[in-house]
Amino acid sequence: MFESKSGIFFIAGIGFFLLAFLGNGVVPMIMYKDRVEQTAEQVVNKRVMAQFRDLAERYPESFKEAFGEPTEEACAEALRLGRQVYVGEGCWHCHSQFVRPVSNESRRWGPVAKTTEYDNELQRPVLFGTRRVGPDLSREGGRRGNDWHAVHFHRPKDVQVDSPMPAYPWFFEGSPDRPNRRGIAIITYVQWLGSWLPSYPYYEELAEVQDD
Ligand code: HEC
Repeated sequence: MFESKSGIFFIAGIGFFLLAFLGNGVVPMIMYKDRVEQTAEQVVNKRVMAQFRDLAERYPESFKEAFGEPTEEACAEALRLGRQVYVGEGCWHCHSQFVRPVSNESRRWGPVAKTTEYDNELQRPVLFGTRRVGPDLSREGGRRGNDWHAVHFHRPKDVQVDSPMPAYPWFFEGSPDRPNRRGIAIITYVQWLGSWLPSYPYYEELAEVQDD
């Protein structure tokens, strides 16, 4: 077998496959086997709560109809629905959720992604995405205000004239100041992305926000 080149390549092929399987599959599985996956309730934090309350104050009628009071339970519910909307609308066709350790990506988007960030219910299955027609969203939270997102989802071209992102008028009851349940959920979800990192804008101040 080792007399022919194809024999050597065949053995090497199987060898490299096994090595990759071991390194990328078996080793991480053993390393993280005792980690408990977090639920949506557990990943609600002060920063996303501040955004959620801001939505309640900004769009009182729509918010009340969609989620009632801005409690932590309601926020977890909004995050779950927001994730479903993100999957259902195919946002992941155009956006990644993974800052890679190459090409100085961290200078544009923030800290390189870590395994532990994907250890929760909202990343099952993970939403890494493969294409980047639009920017990476894993550190999107806090970059923009809730009203900016409302206008942008309603009609992206109103804030970015040459945006190829589709409009999502069905997130609203008419105008951008009347977001419906799905609209509020997707905004909460994008504001949550990266809220667990100190790179979140106003991280310190928002950590001190009191729950009343
Ligand atoms: C056809 C590709 C495409 C799809 C589908 C798409 N986007 Fe985008 N998105 C873009 C592009 C391109 C931009 C940059 C231009 C802009 O701001 O509109 C963008 C920008 C954004 C931004 C602003 C980022 C920033 O801070 O500048 C957010 C948030 C966003 N998209 C979320 C979403 C969500 C959520 C969905 C699904 C409901 C979605 N996008 C679907 C292409 C897309």
